[in-house]
Amino acid sequence: MLSKLFLLVHLASVVLASPTPTDLENRASIDTSSHCGQWDTVTASQYELLLDLWGESGATSGSQCSNLVSLSGSTISWKTTWTWTGGSGVKSFSNIQLNTGVNTQLSAISSMPTVWQWSQSSSGTIVADVAYDLFTSNTAGGSNTNEIMIWLANFNAGPISYTYGSNGQPVPVASNLSLAGHTWNLYSGSNGANAVWSFLPTSGTITSFSGDLKTFFDYLTENEGISTSQYLVTAQAGTEPTSGSATLTTSAYSLAIN
Ligand SMILES: *[C@@H]1O[C@H](CO)[C@@H](O)[C@H](O)[C@H]1NC(C)=O
Repeated sequence: MLSKLFLLVHLASVVLASPTPTDLENRASIDTSSHCGQWDTVTASQYELLLDLWGESGATSGSQCSNLVSLSGSTISWKTTWTWTGGSGVKSFSNIQLNTGVNTQLSAISSMPTVWQWSQSSSGTIVADVAYDLFTSNTAGGSNTNEIMIWLANFNAGPISYTYGSNGQPVPVASNLSLAGHTWNLYSGSNGANAVWSFLPTSGTITSFSGDLKTFFDYLTENEGISTSQYLVTAQAGTEPTSGSATLTTSAYSLAIN
């Protein structure tokens, strides 16, 4: 152990390339093992990996496993691999949940800075999204009132919507919104339990996102009647697969509620 430590310190001092000794000190010791259970969780400082395979019983076959990779400062990286066959519904929402700063009224939140850099490899046709999933409630820790999704990618999936066009496509309630450096369409609907608001990029996939999620709440409170007295109770970011096979690798993710 001592010799390993010495080697590490020695290497850090003679190798001029990064990581620097400071990076090594900031790199937290976390559980990087693979987890595949329906409700498995792994806590890492302010973050928590949730397997959340809530719809797996709708699949005729399949599985999903996830692991944390590293936590350095407030930046976490993780990976999830899934393969799902059968059923028309979403099978899971494996995600990174932020456990610090939630249960705060929207009016008391000044910013929610986030970075999300990811890549995905897949085989064949997949149906999935990559998205933030945020919930508000009338009370701190209360039941969900509004679900706010910010999609960074739509792989043959689609948002929940009250209205659909004759072409079968969901009809946005607002179009071409410029928020957080990208252009979005906003969809409104219900999942049966609460209102769902979904921001989707008007085109393409955003694999490197950096912005303030508070901007999306500001839009909804100013234009869509969500009250600033609502409490943000859940803040998650992950992928919702329905079918196919893919590996989603998040090389850098961070979120804070200020
Ligand atoms: C959104 O922008 C696109 C591209 O400029 C344009 O074709 C479309 O008409 C706009 N939609 C609305 C509802 O303004």
